[in-house]
Formats: sequence, C-alpha cells, structure tokens
Amino acid sequence: MSPPVYSRYRTAFVEALAQSLGVPASEIDSQVKPADPAHGDLSFPTFPLAKAQKKAPPAIAAALAQGVKVPGLEIVAAGPYVNAKFSPMPFTAEVIDAARSQGVRYGGSDVGAGKTVVMDYSSPNIAKPIAFHHIRSTVIGHAVANLHRALGYRVEGINYLGDWGKQFGLVAVGFQEYGEADKRQDMAHLVQVYVKANKRAEQEPAFDERARDFFRRMEAGDAEALTLWKEFRETSVRDFERIYARLGVKFEHMEGESFYQGKMEPVIEEISRAVGVKESQGATIVDLAYEENEPPVLLKKNDGSTLYATRDLAAAIDRHERFHFDKSLYVVATDQALHFRQLFRVLKAMGRSFVDRMVHVNFGRVHGMSTRQGNVVLLTDVLDEARARARTIVDKNIEEGKIQTDDPEKLAEQIGLGAIFFGDLKNRRGTDYTFDWDDVLNLTGHTGAYLQYAHARACNILRKGGGAPASYDATLLTLPEEQAVLRAIARLPVVVQEAAEQQEPSFVARWLLDLAAAFSSYYTAGNQDRNKRVVLEGHDALKAARLALTDATRAALAAGLTLLGIATPENM
Ligand code: ARG
Repeated sequence: MSPPVYSRYRTAFVEALAQSLGVPASEIDSQVKPADPAHGDLSFPTFPLAKAQKKAPPAIAAALAQGVKVPGLEIVAAGPYVNAKFSPMPFTAEVIDAARSQGVRYGGSDVGAGKTVVMDYSSPNIAKPIAFHHIRSTVIGHAVANLHRALGYRVEGINYLGDWGKQFGLVAVGFQEYGEADKRQDMAHLVQVYVKANKRAEQEPAFDERARDFFRRMEAGDAEALTLWKEFRETSVRDFERIYARLGVKFEHMEGESFYQGKMEPVIEEISRAVGVKESQGATIVDLAYEENEPPVLLKKNDGSTLYATRDLAAAIDRHERFHFDKSLYVVATDQALHFRQLFRVLKAMGRSFVDRMVHVNFGRVHGMSTRQGNVVLLTDVLDEARARARTIVDKNIEEGKIQTDDPEKLAEQIGLGAIFFGDLKNRRGTDYTFDWDDVLNLTGHTGAYLQYAHARACNILRKGGGAPASYDATLLTLPEEQAVLRAIARLPVVVQEAAEQQEPSFVARWLLDLAAAFSSYYTAGNQDRNKRVVLEGHDALKAARLALTDATRAALAAGLTLLGIATPENM
C-alpha cells in the first residue's frame, strides 16, 4: 500500500527542509504543523533556528523557501514561517483517486503491519443488565479496534465477561428465593432476580453470606454449583450475542473471568516471590508501599476466594504469553482508574516490563439516560427506543417526500443505532456527557443521522448524474469550496492514525462533521450564485469532474462512518 497522499507530501516537505538545514528529518518532523488554511497546508516555524544561525527568523524563512523544492508543493515564506501549499495538480487527482479506489477502506495504511494489539472491551457481567458503561465500552472499543485494523494491526478483541465472582453467587441464591424454575433461560428474569437479591444482600448479612458461600463452592469445583452457573452463563451469553449481532460488533475471543479459574495460584506465588504478600485481617494482600487511605490490592479474601484484581493479574500475564502484544488496551470506565493503576503497579513490581505497553483506555459517565420503560437501563430497551424514535422521523420524512426507502424499519434501525453510536463517539471519551434523545436524533445537528444523510445525499447526486465517471479532468475543480472538500478528504488517513494512537474515536467523529460541512457548503454554494451551481450543472467535462469529487466524498464519508461502526444507507 503506498502511503496516503497527505503524509507523502508532508514527509517530502520535512525531508527537503531537513536536507537544506543539514539536520536529520526526525529532528524537525514534529515542528511541521498544518498551516492556517489562508496560508497553505503545511507550516514550518523558523524561530527555533534563530539563535544558532544568528539571523532573524524571516530571513531564515526566506532563504529556506528559496532553496527548498518539492514537486507538487508551492513553497513560500510568510514572515518567520515556511509554508507549503499542495499544488492543485496532481494533489486533486491523487486524493480523489485514492478515496474512490479504496472505498470504505480509505483512510487506512499499513503502519501497524506485523503488530498485535489486544483489546479488552464491552465485558459485561453475566446475569446483570448491560449498563450504559458497557455500551460505552462496546461502542468505543469497537471503534478503536476498527481503527487499528485499518492501520494493519492484528487485533485480538476480548470480551472479558464478568462471569466469576461473588455477584454470581447472588444471582444463584437469589434464584433459589425469587426465581421461577422454568425461566432459567430468560435473561430479563435473571436480571430481575439479581436486582432483588442485590438489594436484600445489602440489608441482610446472612443472605450476603449465602452468596459468598455459593461462590466459594464454585471456586472449590462443586459440580452442582457449577452446573447452575453454566446454565445462567449460557442464558446471558445468548442474550449478549443477540445484542452484539444487532450492533454489528464481533470479538475474536469471548473469554471472561472464569477463564482464569484454577490458574491464579501460580500468579499469587510469583507475586509473593517477586513482590511479597502479607496477611491483613485474614485476607492476602500484595505487600506494596500503599498511600494513606489507599485500599490494598487483595489477592484472596479471608475465605480463600479470589478477586477481580487476582483474575486481572492472571489475565494480563496470560494475554502477554499468548499474543506477545505490542499494545494491550482496556476500554473501561474511569471509575476503575484505581483498579488499573494498581494492576499496572503490581505487574511493574513483578518486573513484567510488558506493563509499559498496557493502557487503561478510560471513559467518562453518561447522565440522563433513561427509557420510557423506567430506570434500570437495559441496552435492548435503549436500542428499541432509538429505533422507534428514528421510525417516527423516517415516516414523517417519507410523508413529506424527503426520504425514499423501501424498508423504513431497516432504515430506522440504522438511524437509531447510528444515533447511539455517534452520540457517544462525538464526545472525547474522557469527558462525562448528558444523553438527550433530541441531541442524538436530529437530521441537522451534529448527529449520526446528519452524516448518514450527507452520505445518502452524495449517493443521490451520483444516481441523478448518471453514476460516477470513469475518467474526468481534475484541473477543472478550482472552486474554493471544491478545494476545501478535497482537503478534508485528504486528512482522513492522518486523523485515523492519530485517533488510533490516542484511542480517541472522537477525532474521526469530528473529521466526519468537518467533511460533511464542507460538502454541504459545496453543494449549497450554487443556491446563491448560479455560476457556482455545482455537480449536476456545467458542461459535460465539468460535470464529470464534480461527480468524481462527489464520489470521493461518498467513499470518504462511508469509510469514516464504517470505522465508527455506523451504517451507511444509500438512500434516505
Ligand atoms: N466486568 C467489568 C464491569 O462490568 C469490566 C471488566 C473490564 N475489564 C477488565 N479486564 N477488568 O465493570
């Protein structure tokens, strides 16, 4: 795969500057930044050179601009800066051809080839409702996994189910009290039982003790306890799988905490050898220099049963052994920051240097999420509600002749899911946000539906124009609006790489909004000025060039939306 157009020009600019300055390219690479659009595309400041060269920055810039030549770039000095602008040709044709030929794969590269990233995401707890933090983990994790795949990484996506631990004991003893025997395979029923049992355990220590005892039996390998566990687990997994299929999310591995049952002893031994453990109120804790008020890292409770941290330690080591990862990412709520800090600290103290390649990809909370059904937020209910609300919009728009579709229910599902995904991913993951149905579902705001509409609009223009042309003359695309669309398209590969490096899908979300805005000013430009009437106007050659640009926009929008896990209906 040849490097993306934008980075190819950028690299050439950096290398030419470095050569002229007599320094290695790596030394100045980070100084070359996107330029203020009025001045070009790339910009290099000369202030840092002034001291060594004993010359004023503008003089340095002028001399550099004189000497540096790169085919396809117009290089000029502006005060202390050396600016480079993509020459209309061949840049225009290169960008359009790259997007059109790569289609939904546009934006990718092979910088990650040969590398492996392990991703722990979604990871709901069995017999408990999938809550909003699991939705965030699923949606963000899916996008981050897609971003890495686009860059050529091998992705090992793991759904680390919460399928072991005391909370399972709660479901089990709760079922003895409140369960209906014939409803063991009914997820909604299990959730109800869990909610009741959880409440009761908080008030009644003896009940809580029964739950612990059940879990102890599970860890001891009691056949009866394990049979029940297995059955409930299967009910949950079946339910989760239905939801993942609906969301279009797939995992390479569905292996939860129970995967580590019986595999924790060697890890505890290693910790006691390498770091040290001690007893604290009958429990086994890692012997670390804890800060005041810091809860200790528990490896075993006073009854000998293992904990969340014990299993995560075993899992981290196991994942390293199996996958030899270059990165291991945990897409988990910020609420668990302490857990991951401690996990990493223990691994470090064990001398497990791979810990430096592990990242807690944290995310903030969502407020205001509720459904008409009431307050326990079930993901299925949220998705159904999204579809129902989208259906209302679809029907209204069909009536008004704004939308054409032969499958309104499918379209409503695509718009509904797009609303949930984009409504989440447009926010920087670390920030909390307030969920609002009207914010995530409207056709003109910063929404998934708006972007899906922009994509469908491009498809529609192409249909009306008789399809995308096989050949066209890129030199005809001289309107500033056309060059703006082009520049937005050109940026996607850069955005994808930055988004993957920082595990921040919101970069792609924002880029999508920029491209859609540029495209919208492009095709509405003609409304004020007949000479600019775009795309379907003009002589045949101009029309062909404009259709080619529209086709490139369509491909780039589809690529960005697909990275975020959002469907791209061609008609809406
Ligand atoms: N099941 C946990 C929860 O629902 C999330 C697990 C995150 N992954 C991990 N390796 N700890 O809170």
